Amino acid sequence: MSKDNAVKIRFHSGENIPLEMHKVRVVQKLHLPPIERRLEALHEGGFNTFRLTTQDVFLDMLTDSGTNAMSDMQLSAMMHADDAYAGSQSFFRLQRAAEEVLKKKYFLPVHQGRAAENVLAKAYIKKKGDLIPMNYHFTTALAHITQYGGRIVELLYDEAYNIASSHPFKGNMQVEKLEAVIRAHGRDNIPFIRMEASTNLIGGQPFSLQNLRDVRQIADRYGLRVVLDASLLGENAWLILQREPAFAHATMAEVIAEITGLADIVYFSARKLSSSRGGGICTNDLTIYRELEALIPLFEGFLTYGGISVREIEAMAVGLYETLDETMICQSPQFIAYLVHALTAKGVPMVTPPGVLGAHVDAMSMCAHIPQTQYPAGALAAAFYLISGVRGMERGSISNQRDEDGNETYADMELLRLAIPRRVFTLSQIKYVEDRLVWLYENRRRIGGLKFVYEPPVLRFFMGGLAPVSDWPEQLIAQFKADFGDSR
Ligand code: F0G
Repeated sequence: MSKDNAVKIRFHSGENIPLEMHKVRVVQKLHLPPIERRLEALHEGGFNTFRLTTQDVFLDMLTDSGTNAMSDMQLSAMMHADDAYAGSQSFFRLQRAAEEVLKKKYFLPVHQGRAAENVLAKAYIKKKGDLIPMNYHFTTALAHITQYGGRIVELLYDEAYNIASSHPFKGNMQVEKLEAVIRAHGRDNIPFIRMEASTNLIGGQPFSLQNLRDVRQIADRYGLRVVLDASLLGENAWLILQREPAFAHATMAEVIAEITGLADIVYFSARKLSSSRGGGICTNDLTIYRELEALIPLFEGFLTYGGISVREIEAMAVGLYETLDETMICQSPQFIAYLVHALTAKGVPMVTPPGVLGAHVDAMSMCAHIPQTQYPAGALAAAFYLISGVRGMERGSISNQRDEDGNETYADMELLRLAIPRRVFTLSQIKYVEDRLVWLYENRRRIGGLKFVYEPPVLRFFMGGLAPVSDWPEQLIAQFKADFGDSR
């Protein structure tokens, strides 16, 4: 098969610049509020970037979830959506897209990724202590598994925890350990094995296709199901084309088909995978389909919409086909690589190699003076918003949940994630991020810690409220004014 949607363009200057293969036709005006307002906004939002409103945000790098730019084809497809409670033609177009792109014939719609996690956990975690081996957890996946009494074991290789690394596939599962875990725990106590494409919380790091083949082989040996979290499947597949020599000449369609073919169940957040909103669970196994089917009308909606608007279902179908287009999928990882390389060159500690979804700053190293008990990644996220108006996301101990006895569990990594959704930001905006982050790095000792003042019991990072442990935000503002004068 030819790789006719991949384009290689070299610059005469030798510079390695991500070049957009699209043009902008609809724009949204942005505002950069003054730094005094940014401090007020932080206080109003409990020093938690989730609680800022977009009125106070210049570049929104909180997430790529539901914020990727949609294509003209997606928007136009939304206009011919078929409104019906049952039997909508929009659903059948989506089902066909899932069959053609993901190669799974049974499709269950859910309102977003975590809804799929709820359905799977409810269907398969039958007794307390059931164990789900996985490459690494995602916040919502873990919350649903523990909600139903399950436990997880994470089986990444040691290299995955090495923040500055050159390993191309830090999301790989340690297959030798997988086999040992199955033997020790007993296959009957393992409802499924979960593999996450482009492991989110360790910096959007992919697995290799060979690794997934090895996981499948062990699963077959013990008769276990493999569940794939395909939310970031497109970018994982693209990185396989770039980094796994055996697939250098393969197409996106071929790699995606092989990945999904190795899983019994594929679920995803359409907010990521297809630049739309909603989610899905798909399989080729009629028994699995029947096991899950009844839970959809109970929690999500009728089987032909699953809580998703029909307009979004149309956009999802087109978005799934567009996942096969390298010129679209390469956008986010190429911009991330550009930013990571630029920052690394200036000494800012970043997760390497660059992954997907966003650029990740190593807050444990940048803010080594802030103890983990004072949430260095949360503090860095707040400080970076304060001096730039750029909203990133804490991916560290605040995003962790307490253990069964209510003790803090400190994260393996304290990261500030700067998400780069597909086709949203320009290179000059990325350069602004680079500029302000380098300044903050030079002034990093002025950043102080945070403490909780309001801590919700579940997924505390979303709505939790924190406060600075000292007057460090005011001191940071004073230095900013001294260096930048009247610049915002
Ligand atoms: N799995 C992965 C790997 C995810 O990254 C997400 C969401 C989900 C499942 C849940 O999907 O949000 O549609 O319910 N990640 C978002 C993020 C929230 O910002 O990384 P959802």
